[in-house]
Amino acid sequence: MLSTTTPLSLGWAGNLSLATLFALASTVISADSSDKRGLVFIPHDDYPEDNQLWIGPGSTMTWYYNYAMKPADPFSSVSQESFEFVPMFWGPPGDDVEDTVFYDTVADLINNEGRNITHVLGFNEPDAPSDWGGSNMEAKDAAEYWVKNMEPLKEDFPWVKIGLPGCTAVEGWVDWLADFLGECAELEYEGRDRNCSFDFLPLHWYDNFEGLANYVGTAREFFPDTPLWITEYAYAHQDLKPTQYFYNQSQEYFDRLDFVERYSYFGSFRSEDSNVGKNAAFLNNDGNLTDIGSWYMGGAATGIDPQSGAVGRTSMDGGRWTLLGCLGVALMVVGL
Ligand SMILES: *[C@@H]1O[C@H](CO)[C@@H](O)[C@H](O)[C@H]1NC(C)=O
Ligand SMILES: *[C@@H]1O[C@H](CO)[C@@H](O)[C@H](O)[C@H]1NC(C)=O
Ligand SMILES: *[C@@H]1O[C@H](CO)[C@@H](O)[C@H](O)[C@H]1NC(C)=O
Ligand SMILES: *[C@@H]1O[C@H](CO)[C@@H](O)[C@H](O)[C@H]1NC(C)=O
Repeated sequence: MLSTTTPLSLGWAGNLSLATLFALASTVISADSSDKRGLVFIPHDDYPEDNQLWIGPGSTMTWYYNYAMKPADPFSSVSQESFEFVPMFWGPPGDDVEDTVFYDTVADLINNEGRNITHVLGFNEPDAPSDWGGSNMEAKDAAEYWVKNMEPLKEDFPWVKIGLPGCTAVEGWVDWLADFLGECAELEYEGRDRNCSFDFLPLHWYDNFEGLANYVGTAREFFPDTPLWITEYAYAHQDLKPTQYFYNQSQEYFDRLDFVERYSYFGSFRSEDSNVGKNAAFLNNDGNLTDIGSWYMGGAATGIDPQSGAVGRTSMDGGRWTLLGCLGVALMVVGL
């Protein structure tokens, strides 16, 4: 667990008592569209209708990612302008650090597919073992892949903003990033020293609001000039009330802070499929929007209990889902 006594450079959160923090955070949440708000897209093969919910009329979500380099099938006909796809370089594409598949794929999207990509995400939890859903990368390999893929991307498409590798919140995450940047400084790109380019820092969080504020403070301390994206978050494995209270507080917090550029709640699945707790889900077991699901989409409370509806009919697609869920559990185990 990150120290809660770390002096915070972000200002307000560090100097306020927990009670004050909670009081401030419980002011009315605006349902206005926020350009910051996005979707962590978890596709569902058994319920394709769920996939369409997120792009329905009135949704406040403006962008999405799917842990992949290419747009999700259900959104393939949705234009980049109406719902921004953000490609992710999830982890090692193979064993060859010379591999340029990420660069090639994004360049193809821009040059040939009519998708003017403007943001990309780096490795997903490279500091976590595969069993937890991490991409489990050595900082040195990560730097090599970066130089071969992200640097030419920056060179050829200078408007593309690059997210640093998105580490876990487990102690040591900052060290992993420092090692990565250190390895970058050792490498050359096109015969010259250049370091690894990045424009924003993605973060993941699955515990309470106080911990989140401290975590954000630590991130600001180490990367004072780098905007943040919170690309996975929820208060995992809690009763409904604290889950919703956290949701309200964090959304108000992210909307208010200028240095939080974007956020995406985790999220977009039915309660029985959630491995971050049954109450964190956007959907109940019949596919109806829960309060959190509806609020996130810009709507009013639905009063739908996440755990209501028929259970046991589903099988999520893809192994990555299981892995992600394991990570949520693992975070709880280590006491975050
Ligand atoms: C893509 O968007 C950027 C930034 O908005 C712009 O500068 C560039 O010309 C666009 N490129 C294409 C191919 O549309
Ligand atoms: C790369 O980063 C190191 C510190 O990490 C710095 O000393 C060096 O000047 C940087 N090089 C370039 C070309 O920016
Ligand atoms: C969360 O905010 C909504 C208003 O958007 C409010 O109706 C609800 O009571 C709040 N829930 C908690 C637990 O704070
Ligand atoms: C929940 O979803 C089911 C299946 O789509 C639908 O029949 C039902 O009317 C919905 N219930 C509510 C309360 O929205």
